[in-house]
Amino acid sequence: MTLFDVYPLNNITITKALGSYVWDENGVQYLDMYGGHAVISIGHTHPHWVKRIEEQLEKIAFYSNSIVIPIQQQLAEKLGKVSGKEDYQLFLCNSGAEANENALKLASFHTGRKKIIAFNKSFHGRTSLAVAATDNKNIVAPVNETENIIFLPFNDENALLNCFNKNGNEIAAVIIEGIQGVGGINVASESFLQLIRTLCNEHGAVYIADSVQCGYGRSGKFFSHDHAGVNADIYTMAKGMGNGFPIGGILIAPHIKPKHGMLGTTFGGNHLACAAALAVLEVMEEENLIEMAKQRGQYLMNRLKSIDSIKNVRGKGLMIGFDVPEEIKDLKKKLLSDFNVFTGEAKPNVIRLLPSLAISRKQSDEFLEVLNECIAELKPPTPKGELEKIAE
Ligand SMILES: Cc1ncc(COP(=O)(O)O)c(C=O)c1O
Repeated sequence: MTLFDVYPLNNITITKALGSYVWDENGVQYLDMYGGHAVISIGHTHPHWVKRIEEQLEKIAFYSNSIVIPIQQQLAEKLGKVSGKEDYQLFLCNSGAEANENALKLASFHTGRKKIIAFNKSFHGRTSLAVAATDNKNIVAPVNETENIIFLPFNDENALLNCFNKNGNEIAAVIIEGIQGVGGINVASESFLQLIRTLCNEHGAVYIADSVQCGYGRSGKFFSHDHAGVNADIYTMAKGMGNGFPIGGILIAPHIKPKHGMLGTTFGGNHLACAAALAVLEVMEEENLIEMAKQRGQYLMNRLKSIDSIKNVRGKGLMIGFDVPEEIKDLKKKLLSDFNVFTGEAKPNVIRLLPSLAISRKQSDEFLEVLNECIAELKPPTPKGELEKIAE
């Protein structure tokens, strides 16, 4: 049997990982500025996370959601405390797409409505409604096509106002990433998120904060939407939640009431996943990682802004993007092949940095040094005449 060939692969086999580094089968060390696609929150193979999972594995790994699972309640309490959303309710699932799928479904159950507002360049996952609300025609199968999604320009307050004025009583939910990830690190303005909150209140719609990539402390606050001082009705979470152990979830505001059978899953909230997620929150608290993400992010961002050859440095905390001009277009590829640094990308020309929230100052400096070196090697030599001008 062969693997279904859907991923363009780098020809590298990682066999070991620790903190912000990974090693290949030949023992070559790589700096991970990509965090395995924003997943690594507390650092690869963190010893507390390993111990927590091992201890749970010795006891029980899984039983179905038909019994009481106290570790789910422990996770809910800890998550309420660390996120500051103590009065919210938690539903556990297994991935980001599943979190968004459940959030959209719940919004529709709650309002009895069908229309969803999503935004240009959004990415919400690959399952049926999540992919329909994703602004990429290439990944929407004919069966996923629906009239129920209204796409609007990101950060366009007038377009949002007009849409609510026209269709307000049909809108079940607005779904928005506080910082678009796959779309290229586009930060939602605070006034835009505040307007979403106001309009959802006025029209009885549900505000869904897709925090799968920008949440879990990455932006320097637990949810990137917190920067705007608003509370969403539903937060969706996944990537950083398990530090690589598959788990997702949604936080649901108290006014949205559950009913038996409304949502459900076989694997969601299993003992092992909860142990991994609890370990993540314990380490985040113990090592003050949300504050670290803020400080480290600010440091990286300031230093990146002083590099002339890269453009439009943007983001928040440790979710940073910049544009790569044509003359150094192979930067990402070369960083990996010649300098052993993993970074993320967004088409057509954006590099995304999504390192572990525990990245050290030394590792940040190591990256900046290597980035400058790599740019210098890629840049075409300055023509003679130009050099003379600079000398003058
Ligand atoms: C903002 C956002 N939402 C949802 C998803 C889907 O998550 P998953 O791949 O876990 O289904 C992603 C994945 O990249 C994402 O970035």
